[in-house]
Amino acid sequence: SKGEYRHFMLKEIYEQPAVISAALEGRLSDTGVLVESFGPEAATLFARTRQIHIIACGTSYHAGLVARYWLERYAGVPVQVEVASEYRYRHPVVPEDTLFVTLSQSGETADTLAALRYAKTLGYIGALGICNVPGSSLVRESDLTLMTRAGPEIGVASTKAFTTQLIALMLFTLALAKSRSDAPLDAGEQGEIVQALKALAPICQQVLALNDEIEVLSQAFAEKHHALFLGRGAHFPIALEGALKLKEISYIHAEAYPAGELKHGPLALVDSEMPVISVAPNDDLLEKLKSNLQEVRARGGQLFVFADKNVGIHAHDDTQVLHLPHIHEALAPLLYTLPLQLLSYHVAVLKGTDVDQPRNLAKSVTVE
Ligand code: F6R
Repeated sequence: SKGEYRHFMLKEIYEQPAVISAALEGRLSDTGVLVESFGPEAATLFARTRQIHIIACGTSYHAGLVARYWLERYAGVPVQVEVASEYRYRHPVVPEDTLFVTLSQSGETADTLAALRYAKTLGYIGALGICNVPGSSLVRESDLTLMTRAGPEIGVASTKAFTTQLIALMLFTLALAKSRSDAPLDAGEQGEIVQALKALAPICQQVLALNDEIEVLSQAFAEKHHALFLGRGAHFPIALEGALKLKEISYIHAEAYPAGELKHGPLALVDSEMPVISVAPNDDLLEKLKSNLQEVRARGGQLFVFADKNVGIHAHDDTQVLHLPHIHEALAPLLYTLPLQLLSYHVAVLKGTDVDQPRNLAKSVTVE
């Protein structure tokens, strides 16, 4: 039941600290990930892995896009990510020693399952399925599995399923890094990420406590017809996910761009009627992002920035800023997802849409 919450979506947003802890439970030592969490053959398979192909749909696809940044940066493995409905109809060339990875909340998405069945004919070394539903088709048909442990997700718009997929994908990244002698991440850095993972749930709680402030921000969106989301690096997929949430439940047209692409076209759309939402964690790309935000301001755009409290981005006339607690750079994509979920939730409530059952959508897409 929804309990004290007005919608399942809100309840599921608030469950995230607890399910993130559940997704980590028993899978970490003090210094690294327990590779056997992925199954008895995982260590051998991961040591052999030279490339990774990740296939998924919708929100799960966005989780895969974040994982590409992590896997290349920390495990040093080249990664391709693609939506299942495209992958299954082209003729993918599979290099030797490539691992196939699917991501799915339900484990029953028709295109993702079809892609998995097709992949089995293409000479991959194995298939890892990251999934939320035990006993689903995807779990039964994968060689290795990792359950995301989000619990049942009722709201059609995926929230806790996404953040627990990110946890699973960070565990996968650490497991690969540990299984390979040439990984960019040394043991000390692995230990730092493990400690940051263990500290993550209470930090998420602090971000959820910004709910009232986000509800106030949401008023600026209710009358708008369009919105633009910007991010760089691993936060570009977080911007994509923020835009998808807003589209799905508030029916406001939203697009996401890597901030560096602004001047190559979308800047033409920016005026005082176009709210621009940006995530600004404290990472290498911050200075570049700041200059992208300046480009928006110069066009009269209204900026909404979710920023690390230490980075020196402050509110003024045309810029509203919400400060998030500082977090290890590797885990920032997880944390910055939360305010975007809350923002779209409050905009949808203001617009009076059916938040848990948006028009035209189904929770599990078992047809093509
Ligand atoms: C968006 C959403 C969908 C699903 C997609 C894949 O909020 O929920 O985009 O992510 O239909 O579903 P799964 O993960 O069950 O394969």
